[in-house]
Amino acid sequence: MTSILMVCLGNICRSPLAHGLLASKLPDDSFYVDSAGTADYHIGNLPDHRSIAVAKTHRIDISTQEARQFRISDFDTFDYIYVMDHSNFETIVKLARQTNDISKVKLILEADTSITDKRVPDPYYGDHYGFERVFTLLDNVTTIISKQLLSK
Ligand code: 4NP
Repeated sequence: MTSILMVCLGNICRSPLAHGLLASKLPDDSFYVDSAGTADYHIGNLPDHRSIAVAKTHRIDISTQEARQFRISDFDTFDYIYVMDHSNFETIVKLARQTNDISKVKLILEADTSITDKRVPDPYYGDHYGFERVFTLLDNVTTIISKQLLSK
């Protein structure tokens, strides 16, 4: 089983979309996908209604996900830890215990060489279009990542 964790700040907007998208592109008998937030603001909450809605438009159901906070043991549980922006990257790397932990952490958009700005923008304080933009970025990059993982 290969395990992949998607990480953002609140685990209610971006990483639930990344989680739902990647899980939809990989067979669940050999891949485990989850998501978490670096912050504790929304523990136990459903994804933001705007993330649920944009996913539903594209036939992805993220409505049963529940937000949780990143924990140190995630470094042991997961083979790959994809973070949405540089701030998430710094937070997770500061929690690393050893270089092997750090080697698992990647900015998710590094996998998409057609994109120069490597931040998945935080859509929380924006409008519906911000969520559409995030969905498109994550749809494209999870297609690339799923192909990479399936070819290993
Ligand atoms: P996310 O977005 O990190 O993509 O889940 C946010 C959600 C909540 C907050 C910030 C970002 N917040 O400040 O509550």
